Formats: sequence, structure tokens, C-alpha cells
Amino acid sequence: MCGIVGYVGHRQAAPILLDGLEKLEYRGYDSAGISVLSGGVLDICKEKGRLSVLRESLKNNMPTGTVGIGHTRWATHGAPADFNAHPHFNMDRTISLVHNGIIENYQSLRDWLISMGYEFRSETDTEVVVQLVDYYFKGDLRRAVEQALSKIRGSYAICVMSSHCPGMLVAARKDSPLVVGKGDGENFFASDVPALLKCTRDVYYLEDGDVAEITADRISIFNSYGAPAGRTLSHIDWDAEAAEKGGYPHFMLKEIYEEPEAIERTFRSKLSESGELNFSDIGITEELAKGINRAVIVGCGTAYHAGVAGKYILERLLGVPVEVDVASEYRYRDPIVRPGDLFVAISQSGETADTLAAMRLAKAKGARIISLTNVVGSTHSREADAVIYTVAGPEIAVASTKAYTTQILCLLLLGLALGRLRGSADQQLCRSTLEEISRLPDMIRQVLTSDKDIRRIAYRYSAASDIYFFGRNIDWATALEGSLKLKEISYIHSEGFAAGELKHGPIALIEQDTPVVAIATEQRLFEKLASNIKEVKARGANILAVCPAGADLVLDSADESIIIPECSELVSPILSVVPLQLFAYDCCISRGYDPDKPRNLAKSVTVE
Ligand code: M6R
Repeated sequence: MCGIVGYVGHRQAAPILLDGLEKLEYRGYDSAGISVLSGGVLDICKEKGRLSVLRESLKNNMPTGTVGIGHTRWATHGAPADFNAHPHFNMDRTISLVHNGIIENYQSLRDWLISMGYEFRSETDTEVVVQLVDYYFKGDLRRAVEQALSKIRGSYAICVMSSHCPGMLVAARKDSPLVVGKGDGENFFASDVPALLKCTRDVYYLEDGDVAEITADRISIFNSYGAPAGRTLSHIDWDAEAAEKGGYPHFMLKEIYEEPEAIERTFRSKLSESGELNFSDIGITEELAKGINRAVIVGCGTAYHAGVAGKYILERLLGVPVEVDVASEYRYRDPIVRPGDLFVAISQSGETADTLAAMRLAKAKGARIISLTNVVGSTHSREADAVIYTVAGPEIAVASTKAYTTQILCLLLLGLALGRLRGSADQQLCRSTLEEISRLPDMIRQVLTSDKDIRRIAYRYSAASDIYFFGRNIDWATALEGSLKLKEISYIHSEGFAAGELKHGPIALIEQDTPVVAIATEQRLFEKLASNIKEVKARGANILAVCPAGADLVLDSADESIIIPECSELVSPILSVVPLQLFAYDCCISRGYDPDKPRNLAKSVTVE
């Protein structure tokens, strides 16, 4: 999704903007641009394509000046093109603006502005904002921005500069993240922290409705009523290194290999000093646990799949029904919210617009919202009543890996804590599961040692046009996730099925040599799964089984296998997905694609 960087200070702005935008590349984009105040005029340069194209075109005429804004655009309104790229500017090029989000009423505003004599150069919704700022500008940039925003419906993070107000930037946010970075004699705006880490670790997270004004040595933040907002300065303690590739060819691979540590860290973060599971910081008491009648989980994409695994886990440990829904559907249902509901919204970024809307809807209906997220200070974390953090470290690759496994771990730990407090979870099961979780990092390391075998298999499978995944019970979540991972980066058509559903339709897709990945971790279901394997094999399928060494029935019916360590049902989805993440990565590499920059996808989907 789009990225924003803004700079005011004593250094040359352009290189800082370009470096910052580079750190946001992982969000996905199709064009980039910068605007720098150079000798009293706005020097604006934008190019379709990657940031390297923009760098190349600026190579011999880098704009000079110490104030500027930059943007990477992920097209929503108007095709990827130079003229649709940001920054957009007013007719006399005295105001320029970058924007993340969607302006819903842009058409009527555009028509009105045209009737007032304004001319438009792009097909974007954004251009109306800069023209509106122009319309209201009477010398006070912040005032003009506030007036313009009062006419706008939609979501935005914007950053604006004007040659009439040199040495100053104005920014605002609603439903799209934006932070202010505090430096020494220089200040910054960015849509995400990694863009700033080279320059500063001290940031203010803007809240919805905030408008901020920065100069080289002043930061002023105002709330939606125009009053000083008094936001707290946060110090980022994770290392910029953590957001770099650290010797791996791709972020995705690095993040897969970080899973053992991510699991370990996340587990430790939920233990008290005496080694007991502890969720008291999010208000989980015995009374609350005993009052739970139902759990509702929402999320999108991979986060939704973590919720599917969570359904099996929480139903087992809490003994209550668990509803799991894709957030984009939940938000348009008329969902029933009851007292005693445990509502969990899962999101790596904590910025996904659909999940945020689902949270807000549930909250308006009286639910107490728990955000399960990886990003401290994210919008979800700030709007929720309580936050459970996955401590996975920054996840840069678009394809989510370590966030997924730590999300399931958090749901499992939450289930164990609640199950104990309610008395609904068997004590012995809780103890053995916790003991198993402490061994999980090593079990994942063991899976990672099969990387060469997985690569060999993946390189053969990567020529296929379709690959199907199936599993039963909690393995179904892994089938869904394995399939999503594969399709989003390798562009091989793929679907994940509940194995029992095969004969109700999907089996019609099986032809001679169709690759099918069967996930089998539950001993009590090996026999059933072996039957499903035989059914597709009888139609010519080639079976790759992902299962423990003891799954003889499954292994006997499969053509080849990836062996994972023996583990219990509750822990299995955290383990069984790891080889499938590697499999997807290897298929992608074998087909010659870049797994960190999948086409049409964005890391953080902050628009509906
Ligand atoms: O940041 P979120 O977890 O809310 O993101 C949700 C999905 O957009 C995300 O999981 C997406 O499906 C990933 N590309 C999957 O790898």
C-alpha cells in the first residue's frame, strides 16, 4: 500500500525522502515521487514503476532543498502512470500533497472544483484534496488543510507543503497510519516507522482526526477539535537491522528462519517472572474467563487463517462455540454481539481497514475488543480495549509467515490461560501443551533443516499450473494458509480444501499428475485422510504429504513427503505450516519471481 515520507531540517531532503521510501517498498507500490522546495519553487518529480526508476531519473538533477515530501503509490483510482503518481499539486504548483487512503466523495468534489475553474491533471481521488487546500489557502497552510478535510469523506494520511510556507509541513490522518519523527534540528513524517529508523527512534503516533505541523525545530499536534493534542513520545526499541535482510536474499526467507526466535520471544512475553502464563495485563481475570459464552475472531487473509486454527484451539480449551469470519464480511453482516463474547481481531499490521471496521462495528454493539497484532502503536492496538502482541519483530515481506505462527501461538496461550481460569481445560493437557510449546522453537528448527529437500520438491512442482492443498480439522487451516502462500507469490493457481469436502466438488478438478498437498498431523484422522488421498490418487493426483514419520497410513498412500516432528493437535498448525511457507518461497524463486514484491499486493491494506 502507499507510503509517505516528509522531511524538514538542515540536511538535503531528497536523499532522505528516497531512503525513507525505500524502507517502505515492502508495502507494495507501482509509482513513486518526491517534491522538494528548491529555491522558492516546488521541484516535483514522479515516475511510474519502482523507486529505482525515480532514482535514475533524478541521478543528474537531484532537487536541492531541505524541505520535502515523498510517496510510493499503490493504485486505487487511476492506472499506475506518471501523471497519477504523487505528489499532486495545485494549478500554480505552489502546494503539493501526498495521500494514502481513499477519498470516497472525490467525484462530487471534483465536479464542484471544475465548476469553480479548477483543472485536473490526474485520474486520482487525491488530486481533489490538493485543489481543495488551494481553494481554502489564505496564507495559513494548517487552516487550509483543516478546512479541506472537513469536506472530505474517506480515509487518509496526507502530507502537504507549500512554497508560500517554506520550512513547514502539515500532515493529517484518519483511518490510515501516520507518525511524526522527532529529530535534532529536523523533524519527519512517515506512514510507517521503518522509513525513519535511520534518522530517529522517537516518534509520535498520530490519532484519527489529528493534524500536525512540523518545522525543523517544532512539532505541533492538534486533535480533531483544533486543540493541542498532547500525544506521547514513543521510543522505538527494535533495531533498524531487524528490518533489513541480514544476509538473506529475501525478507520472506529471513522471516521464515526467524520463526523459532519469534515463537520463543512471543511465548516468553506471556509468562510472568515465576514462569506462569499471564494475561492479567489485558484484564483477563477469573471472573471474565468464567463469563465467556462465545468467542468471535475476525481477520483478513493469513490473519483469518490464524483465526480458523484458533477456532479449533479455543473450542477445545474453552468449551464454547467460536465463530470466525473474514473481517470484510463481518463488517457488512448484522452480526450478533452478546454479553460474554470474547472478540479477537487479528492483524499483523494492526492497520487493515476491513478488520478495523469489523472491530468498530463490534465495539459499537457492545463488544470488548482484543486486538491481536504485531505492531505497537498501530491503529488497532489503540482502538481496542486490550492488546495481545505477537512479538515477532517487524515483518516486512508481503507474504506473512512469522506473524501467522505467532498469532496462532498467542491464541493457544490465551486459550490455555482462559481454559485454566474457567476450569474448562484439562490441567494435564495444559501442562503438556506448555511443555511442548517450550520445545516448539527447536521443532521448527528441525523442520528448517529439511530446506534442501523442500526446495528439490518445490522446484519440480513449480511447473504446475494448479496445486491443491487439503487437510482435516485443524490441518484445514494449514491447507488454506499453504495455498494462499503459494498463490500470492508464485502465481500458481491454488486452493485449499477441507479434505472431506473433496467429493462434494473439488475432486472434479483432479486430472493425471495434478499435484495435491495433503496435511496430516492428527493421528485420529490419519485413516480418514488416507482415504481422501486414495480418492484423488485414483483420479491421477500426485500426492505430497506433510506429516510426522509415524503417519504410516498417510505415507503409504502418498507419492512423496515432507516429514515434520510428532506434535499434538493444538500445537500442530504452528509447525506444519513452516514447510509450506518454504515450499511457496521455493516455487516462487524457481519461477523467477521476487517473493518480497508480489504483483498487485500490498503489505498493509489500509483501504477497503
Ligand atoms: O496486517 P494484516 O494481518 O491485517 O493483513 C491481513 C492480510 O492482508 C494479510 O495476511 C495477507 O493475506 C498477506 N499477504 C498474506 O501473506
